[in-house]
Amino acid sequence: MLQRIKKTASFIQGNVAAVTGGAFEEPEVGIILGTGLGGLVGSIDIAASIDYADIPDFPVSTVEGHRGRMVFGTLGGRRVVAMQGRFHYYEGYEPWQVVFPVRVMKFLGVRTLMVSNAAGGINPNFRVGDIMVITDHINLIPNPLVGPNIAELGPRFPDMHNCYDAELRAVAERVAEAEGIALRHGVYVGGTGPTFETQAEYRYFGAIGGDAAGMSTTPEVIAARHMGLTVFGASIITNAAFSDEAGDHEDVQRQGALAEAKMTALFAGIIGAGLPAASHKTI
Ligand code: HPA
Repeated sequence: MLQRIKKTASFIQGNVAAVTGGAFEEPEVGIILGTGLGGLVGSIDIAASIDYADIPDFPVSTVEGHRGRMVFGTLGGRRVVAMQGRFHYYEGYEPWQVVFPVRVMKFLGVRTLMVSNAAGGINPNFRVGDIMVITDHINLIPNPLVGPNIAELGPRFPDMHNCYDAELRAVAERVAEAEGIALRHGVYVGGTGPTFETQAEYRYFGAIGGDAAGMSTTPEVIAARHMGLTVFGASIITNAAFSDEAGDHEDVQRQGALAEAKMTALFAGIIGAGLPAASHKTI
């Protein structure tokens, strides 16, 4: 696995170096552009991009509205790599495949991972269109670290305190205030999907401490923390768990698009504000 990760990373590095004539150095920040963050690509000064289909060992995204490529460039004065399109467990990928791109990002030089997603609002104070800064998560998707541990990537029993970095969340508060963006805060519950939850399941997610329900993010964040990356995550609340309306993928896409400007301003602002020193370790 380690060889595979390194091979993919060096393939990508070679590609980016060829396109940029070696002008683009390694990215510091990795961004997973979930629902509602696709527009952030427009703010990146793009140096190179590579389609997933052209990357050996990379899975290919099957979800409508998710484009499959990696974009390299600068944003807010920082070198970034953005994943346009992510891999979900519900698509049928093995847990290790879902997190493979995050592993590769680490070997590309990334120290900070920023993720976004769409989620159903369980917390009764949340409204459709709200942005929720993820303060913690509950992972109900098969854990991507199950199996032999690769010591070069991280420890057998990784700590999950401060999973969503407190300093980055503080930066998010300052950016949101300056930009006039209201933020919610809460615990993201990552379920397998692809079904939206039953009313009883939403109540269960709430009872165990969740504020929002989604079908992504937790595996990627677990892999990132395993490797010592600093993580920031935010959800767009695209539907209300306890509404009479059925959950619906088109609604999720539509609400995601409506909140896109806020989400883009938040992420670009955080990156531009200067990221705190990463609490990462070198491998
Ligand atoms: N549940 C799970 N995933 C989701 C939801 C939801 O209500 N909304 C958007 N993604």
